[in-house]
Amino acid sequence: MDSLDGTFDGRHFRDVLGNLPTSVVAVTTTRPDGSPAGMIVGTFTSVSLEPPLVSFLADRSSFSFGHIRESGRYCANVLAADQEVLSRKMATGGPAKFDGVEWTRSPMGNPVLAGIVAWVDCDVEKIVELGDHHLAVGRVRDLRVSSPKTPLLFFRGGYGDYFSTTALLLDRLAGF
Ligand SMILES: Cc1cc2nc3c(=O)[nH]c(=O)nc-3n(C[C@H](O)[C@H](O)[C@H](O)COP(=O)(O)O)c2cc1C
Repeated sequence: MDSLDGTFDGRHFRDVLGNLPTSVVAVTTTRPDGSPAGMIVGTFTSVSLEPPLVSFLADRSSFSFGHIRESGRYCANVLAADQEVLSRKMATGGPAKFDGVEWTRSPMGNPVLAGIVAWVDCDVEKIVELGDHHLAVGRVRDLRVSSPKTPLLFFRGGYGDYFSTTALLLDRLAGF
């Protein structure tokens, strides 16, 4: 139950905010030995154009965020609609996340996963503690669209694909 004094049941908080569809992004980096690390976030967003800044929020309990903090850089990989299995794998804690996952290195040396829609390579500009999360602001160094695929979405606890009703309307108007 919610109340006006600002105390909320955690389930209720999550259920209401689960109505906000999000992207599914794998934020990746490398460990000192060169091996890949990363986690799935639904909180990646652009922040500023001048200077070019992006951000995501990491739970304080996140193991992989420690690696991003340590390396001082991350790559945001926008997953494609056909990558739900990859998302499930990378959203699970533990060392097996990258087993069988194809990736190459970005210009900054961060893992770029095969088959994604787009990537954004950043230096960690600032980390801000906010409640039980850390806001990780990134200074964008390079970014690319790598395929014309539609993005994977997350909504009310489930995965889905993006479908443009506007494009459909325009097609109808154009007589297709
Ligand atoms: C769709 C989706 C969105 C998520 N968004 C976030 C997020 O924004 N921040 C976060 O800390 N965890 C988020 N998670 C949970 C992490 O991916 C999960 O806790 C992961 O195991 C963290 O990895 P780690 O323990 O190696 O850090 C999300 C999971 C899913 C499936």
